[in-house]
Amino acid sequence: MQKEKVTNQNTHWHEPTIFRADREKQNGHRSVILWFTGLSGAGKSTLAHAVEDELHRRGARTFVLDGDNVRKALCKDLGFTDTDRTENIRRIGEVSRLMLDAGLIVMTAFISPFRKDRDLARSLVAPGDFIEVYCNAGLTVCESRDPKGLYKKARAGQIPEFTGISSPYEAPEAPELQLATGTTPVEQCVAQVMDYLRSGKYLSV
Ligand code: ADX
Repeated sequence: MQKEKVTNQNTHWHEPTIFRADREKQNGHRSVILWFTGLSGAGKSTLAHAVEDELHRRGARTFVLDGDNVRKALCKDLGFTDTDRTENIRRIGEVSRLMLDAGLIVMTAFISPFRKDRDLARSLVAPGDFIEVYCNAGLTVCESRDPKGLYKKARAGQIPEFTGISSPYEAPEAPELQLATGTTPVEQCVAQVMDYLRSGKYLSV
C-alpha cells in the first residue's frame, strides 16, 4: 500500500491578539480584495497600479500582486497548463486572504481565465471581501496592443496554450465591476473603481 502523505500533523493554530478589525480601525478603511481579471494586454496591471497610486495618495494601505512578478518568485515552478494556472490562482487566493487579514486593500492582476478558479478564490473570504473586476477588452484590441509581443509569438505557434488564442478565457458572468478597458481611459476606470469602493463604504476618502 502506498504511504499517505502527511503534511498537517503537529501544527497548532495560534490565536492572534491583533485582529483584522483592529488593523482596519488603525488604517481608517476596510480591507478588501480587488480581483482584476481579463486577457493579457487588457490593462489589468496598469489599472491595478493606477488604483493603488490613487489609494496610496489618500493614505490607504495597499498591495498589488501582479501576474508577471509573482510568476518570477512564489509561482516560478508553474507554467501555463490548466492545472498550473489553477494552482497559480489558488496560491494567489491564499496570499490575498492573508493580506486581507493584514488589513490591506489587495489588488491582484492575473488573467485568471477559469471561472472555477476565480470562484475558489472568492470562496476563501466572506461576501463583500472579494470584488471581481472584469477588465473587458476584446481579443482584437489586446492583440493590437500586444505590449510584450506575445500574441505575435502565439499566432506563430511559438507559445502553446496562450490565453485567447489556444487556451480559453471564461469571462465573468456576474462581476461586481465591469470596465471597458479596451476603450476607456485609465483615469476613468480608476474613478469607477474608487466610486465602487466609496459607495460600498470600504473607504471614505
Ligand atoms: S494565469 O492564467 O495563471 O492567471 P498569469 O496572469 O499568472 O496567468 O500570467 C499571465 C502572463 O504571463 C501574461 O500576461 C503573459 O505575459 C505571460 N504568459 C506567458 N505564457 C502565457 C500563456 N501561455 N498564456 C497566457 N499568458 C502567458
